[in-house]
Amino acid sequence: MALATLKEVLDIAEQTGTAIPGFNIDNIEIPEAIITVAEEENCPVIMTIGQGAIAAGGLKHLPDVVRSVARHSSVPVVMHLDHGAGYEQAIACLRAGFTSVMYDGSHHPFAENVNVSRDVVRAAHAVGVSVECELGAISGVEDGISHDNTNLVDLNEVSKFISVVDCDALAIGIGNAHGIYKGTPDIDFGRIRACREMGAPHLVLHGGSGIPEDMIRKAISLGIRKINVATELRLAFMKGLGETASGGDIYKMYDRAKQEVMEVVRAKIRLFQQK
Ligand code: G3H
Ligand code: ZN
Repeated sequence: MALATLKEVLDIAEQTGTAIPGFNIDNIEIPEAIITVAEEENCPVIMTIGQGAIAAGGLKHLPDVVRSVARHSSVPVVMHLDHGAGYEQAIACLRAGFTSVMYDGSHHPFAENVNVSRDVVRAAHAVGVSVECELGAISGVEDGISHDNTNLVDLNEVSKFISVVDCDALAIGIGNAHGIYKGTPDIDFGRIRACREMGAPHLVLHGGSGIPEDMIRKAISLGIRKINVATELRLAFMKGLGETASGGDIYKMYDRAKQEVMEVVRAKIRLFQQK
């Protein structure tokens, strides 16, 4: 199956009142584990290449891994750039065949976020690629990038932003954080509702690892259509490796690590698809 765009799969989620998982991938084994379960569950999937993966290996090999996975897949697969650092990186990803790019300008002045987001949208839409933008900084640590300030998204900024930036999806800061939460997340559900009511594009919830199921269900019922998960996948993979590495059988080790990832993927897909 050819690669799908972010807009295509989130439009499906909007019609079904569900959310599509954005899973970060860092090697070959994790996407293999993800697609196995996504096909079993007949669920589209967003394979996300983040700043950590790019720093570790650049854009040399992972795009080809995702292309190969998509080619053999029976469900739609999106190749997505996570937390894009700027216009130039977005262009590099367009050239590498991504079907969706995020530009994360949430830590820059609002006007700069708008300007760069508009440039990325113009370039990406010219070649049929979707764009995710972000308002309201997400705190926590992800891919070696840490942000202390948790900004609950400013609804006036959302209103202004969506009137001038034609992005396909919008990540919003609503008390969510990257990495493992210290305590129970305090998600501001009112802001999801308000963003929906003002006609925001498909809404995205970052920091999906560790958010309790009831909060996920409520967020989806209010209009969240994409939920990012990275930390739980990575911890599952490393758990599987750790428990088998001393056995000296590399295939058994990778198989166990993939099984651990598959368990997380299955639980997230069933939750996000409201099964
Ligand atoms: O951008 C990546 C996601 O927001 C992942 O967040 O590691 O807390 O699941 P997480
Ligand atoms: Zn994120």
